[in-house]
Amino acid sequence: MSASEIGTLFNSTRASFARITPIVWGPAGQALAFQLQLRPGEFVLDVCSGTGASAIPAAMGVGPTGRVHAIDLADDLLEEGRLVATDRALQNIDFVAADATTWEPPSSVPAAGYDVVSSAFGVFFLPDMDSAVRGLIRMLRPGGRIGVTAWRRGAFESLSTAFFDAVGVYRDNGGPGQRTPVGAVARQQAERLETPKQLADWLTGLGGHDVVVQELSNLAPATDEFCWEIVLGSGLRGPLAEFDPDTIAAIRAEFLGLLTERGVHTVNLGTLVGSATMY
Ligand SMILES: C[S@@+](CC[C@H](N)C(=O)[O-])C[C@H]1O[C@@H](n2cnc3c(N)ncnc32)[C@H](O)[C@@H]1O
Repeated sequence: MSASEIGTLFNSTRASFARITPIVWGPAGQALAFQLQLRPGEFVLDVCSGTGASAIPAAMGVGPTGRVHAIDLADDLLEEGRLVATDRALQNIDFVAADATTWEPPSSVPAAGYDVVSSAFGVFFLPDMDSAVRGLIRMLRPGGRIGVTAWRRGAFESLSTAFFDAVGVYRDNGGPGQRTPVGAVARQQAERLETPKQLADWLTGLGGHDVVVQELSNLAPATDEFCWEIVLGSGLRGPLAEFDPDTIAAIRAEFLGLLTERGVHTVNLGTLVGSATMY
């Protein structure tokens, strides 16, 4: 899946993405910004920033003398972030449509590099996660910090299994529904970061010191509206692109029926927040 197809997929999540932000994206983004111990005047690169769940709290952390570059492939999500930033009168954040794997820091960034690189639920979407993140780390000044959030093992599991089972019922050839290619790669890479030890080892392997990994428990009541909104407001919605509106309505009904049948009352949004200093 090309960068432009990823952008198109996430652009299509915009309305639902924004609606689930207070429950799904917001808490983790805020936690990431706090864990990075931002200081006034710092320069932050936030990649895969979506509507700014971590970038906006970062802009508040570094204040008017600092700056945040928030980059993403999905301009519609960035536009949502611009609206929030304008609403809060934040003038120290730039939402830029760009690919994290080819980003070149503009000349306004200090020659030594960014103070911080952050990404909430983003690094596992990068085609070759480790080499892409090494590239981002090279944009940090010596002693700069990196921070990421990732899904804790088991997060979303009952929900996504029911969703793919429901999609499978409506596929021509039957069988379980399949993730889109980007979804499959993201899933494989996310599985390498889903325990505190895995995430800590990964950050250490990238050359990180003073590694900290915190576990955030986030258990949301599984109402029908919320469960469907998560599908529409995340990368999960990818497989729906091949169906017409009537079939999507049928998939929704099947999905919600499966959740009821399986006794899913809670959506596990467990998150890991990892950070490290790079010397
Ligand atoms: C799950 S969303 C997370 C957004 C945001 N960080 C948050 O926590 O709300 C993942 C984001 O990564 C973006 N993305 C995926 N690949 C990217 C790339 N190569 N460069 C920039 N953004 C990318 C997608 O467009 C999407 O907005």
